[in-house]
Amino acid sequence: MIVIPTHMKISVIGTGYVGLVTGAVFSDWGHDVVCADIIEEKIAMLKKGVMPIYEDGLKELVNKNVKEERLSFTTDVAKSIKESEVVFIAVGTPSNQSGSADLSAVWAVAKTIGENLNDYKIIITKSTVPVGTNERVWEIVKENSPEGAKFACVSNPEFLREGTSIYDANNTDRVILGSDDPKAIDKIATLYEHLNAPIVKCDFRSAELVKYASNAFLATKISFINEIARICHSAGADVKVVSEGMGLDKRIGRAFLNAGIGYGGSCFPKDVEALYRTSSDHEYDFRLLRGVMDVNERQKYFYIEQIVRHFKGNLSGKTFACLGLAFKNNTDDTRKSVALEIVKMLRGEGARLRVFDPAAMENAKKVLGNDVIYYAKDLMDAIEGSDGICILTEWQEFAEIDLAEAKKTLKKAVIFDGRNLLDPASVRKAGFEYFGIGRR
Ligand SMILES: NC(=O)c1ccc[n+]([C@@H]2O[C@H](COP(=O)([O-])OP(=O)(O)OC[C@H]3O[C@@H](n4cnc5c(N)ncnc54)[C@H](O)[C@@H]3O)[C@@H](O)[C@H]2O)c1
Repeated sequence: MIVIPTHMKISVIGTGYVGLVTGAVFSDWGHDVVCADIIEEKIAMLKKGVMPIYEDGLKELVNKNVKEERLSFTTDVAKSIKESEVVFIAVGTPSNQSGSADLSAVWAVAKTIGENLNDYKIIITKSTVPVGTNERVWEIVKENSPEGAKFACVSNPEFLREGTSIYDANNTDRVILGSDDPKAIDKIATLYEHLNAPIVKCDFRSAELVKYASNAFLATKISFINEIARICHSAGADVKVVSEGMGLDKRIGRAFLNAGIGYGGSCFPKDVEALYRTSSDHEYDFRLLRGVMDVNERQKYFYIEQIVRHFKGNLSGKTFACLGLAFKNNTDDTRKSVALEIVKMLRGEGARLRVFDPAAMENAKKVLGNDVIYYAKDLMDAIEGSDGICILTEWQEFAEIDLAEAKKTLKKAVIFDGRNLLDPASVRKAGFEYFGIGRR
């Protein structure tokens, strides 16, 4: 436990990927934290020490801090607010039909906070929310709170990544705090000071935009390198070499320059789209973002086309081992997973599928059902008797696949590496045909 200068009583409303990790980490820093959620089943699991999500190190961190009585869970959102001086909003902000952010959960929580404002509180929005949201949160709290009630609002967007979220929360590159109340900013800054990360203190709207601009920029890097991969594919170059060469330039950096089947997950697709909507609402056509989304959408077709072409236009009756269902490695999250989209597309082409993911099988089953899909026990079980291997998520165990063993059980030794995980030369040496994304 870290010795912190100012002890705080914190409630985190919304116990999902962000809220649960944030709450656990704050409690580990020595604060008293209650994580609240409206899903009874989730809270019941947490009370029994069972994690509702897969995240490395989370179970140990949660159970340690529960045992040491700094962390608790509740469905009584109102009580958690009343008993806290600092209230974090960490509810989901998914896309609605128009592509803009659905803020209904944020508005609902703001109303509940207002109704339970029994003392001065600082209300902090961690959820990713469009420009102007924190101002509206302030108004909703005001409209629903008793006459003369005092409070402040702060925007504190979250940058953790699923799969490494506990590490990220303890090693953030920066903390963004936006508000019209400098005292509230200073108080919340004390929560993060021990991290020795730069703290950017600003207005609400700039803080809100930092998050969207950051995610949109990272998505742009991915779409950019996917475009370069297409050129590599046609011109006979290797995108891995190109991205490595580019990434060595400090101005560019190596991160998010991995060509593949495109970005997915619960954040990038929705945040890029929401930023595009925000710009349209401000009568600006953000053309670059249109391109980013368009490239991302096309990338999975490029991948499928390679498979269809290899099998001379007919996948009907062919069986593929699909390795990976989560949207990225080290998580069970399948929200907007491109891997799942590809599984559905292959199924649409008449293929049979043997799927495996080290963590996301249960979440995938809810989306894919049972039709022509066999849920394999492990990697080798998925491969058995297949006409080819499709790598769809960048799990390390797929990078370490035993090619000699795999070859024994496959009908056809061919790998479609949608994440450029394997070395083409080694795969070919092992007697396989290899198709990556923009590899020589
Ligand atoms: N997942 C990530 O990697 C990540 C990273 C950075 C930022 N974010 C942002 O953080 C926010 C939360 O994302 P998440 O992935 O944790 O979502 P999530 O869906 O995993 O969790 C949201 C939780 O909020 C709960 N909730 C909804 N309405 C509620 C209410 N009225 N009262 C109490 N609880 C309520 C839901 O039941 C759910 O458990 C989003 O805005 C997201 O864009 C996510």
